[in-house]
This record gives sequence, C-alpha cells and structure tokens, in this order.
Amino acid sequence: MRSAAAFVLAMLGLSITGPATAEEHELGEELYTRYCAACHGETGGGGGDMQNFLDIHMPNLRTMAQRNDGVFPLLETIHIIDGRSGIRAHGGPMPLWGDVFMTENVEERGFYGSVLETRGRVLSLALYLESIQE
Ligand code: HEC
Repeated sequence: MRSAAAFVLAMLGLSITGPATAEEHELGEELYTRYCAACHGETGGGGGDMQNFLDIHMPNLRTMAQRNDGVFPLLETIHIIDGRSGIRAHGGPMPLWGDVFMTENVEERGFYGSVLETRGRVLSLALYLESIQE
C-alpha cells in the first residue's frame, strides 16, 4: 500500500516536469517566506535569522539537486517537509510541518479539508524549492 502511494506520487512528479504556473510558484514562495525563511534564509541559501540563535547548520536548499547527481529529489523533499513519514530520523531540529499545517487548519476546514490543505502546502513548497535550484 505504502509503495503504491509512493509510486503514484513519483508518477505525479514525473508528469509535472514542465514549468509550474505563476500562481503555484507564488503560493509556494509565500509559504516559504512565512514558515521557512527564518531558518533557511530569504533565498533558501541558508543563514536565516534563527541561525544566530540555533547552534545547528541550516542546509542550503538551493543545492539539493546538485548534491543529488543533478536531480531534484522531489518525493524525498515532500517527505522531509511533511516530516511524518519518518524518512528523516525522528527528533531532528526541523519542525514537522505536516503536523503544524494540520493543526492550523483542522478547526476551520475539518479533517478532510485539513488533509488536502496540508498536502497542497507541502507540494507547493517542494515545487517552489525545485524552482530555486542552482
Ligand atoms: C527552526 C528552523 C527551521 C525551520 C523554520 C525550517 N527548517 Fe528546514 N531544516 C532545518 C534544519 C536544522 C535542517 C537540517 C536537519 C534536518 O534535515 O532535519 C533542515 C532541513 C531541511 C531540508 C532538507 C535539506 C537537505 O538538503 O537535505 C528541507 C527540504 C527543508 N529543511 C525544508 C524546509 C521548509 C520547506 C521549511 C518551511 C516549511 C523549513 N525547512 C523550515 C531547520 C529549519
């Protein structure tokens, strides 16, 4: 079941190799500025304001493709941002955004609406990161 879901997502990743629309970019960028820039920096290059307070290295999100043989790891990025699949070791310093987005939306949108909103946000963020690769 799990691998079937991963397969569908991988297919989705393959089918969206064309440029994303302007609206999609704007949404991902807006979410990035709001939730991520404090640690990963305005441009994704690292060194956000929080770097001064936290004694951990914030990775450069613009070189993810470079560090992966030139291919942006879309599916892994989705899992890392969501944080709930356990693909990254638990207890890492980055918040589990899947939980954060679910909690923010569940009251207003109900459970199903909240699941959809969360998936949409995580995907928009991952596509935005893909668009800023060097
Ligand atoms: C509190 C600081 C903090 C915030 C806020 C934060 N991150 Fe992170 N992020 C980290 C740290 C530290 C790491 C490296 C450790 C790890 O992978 O867990 C990381 C790792 C990552 C990675 C893996 C990078 C790689 O090269 O392997 C991605 C992708 C990522 N963050 C995306 C995001 C996105 C998208 C947001 C906003 C929704 C965000 N982060 C918000 C601290 C943060």
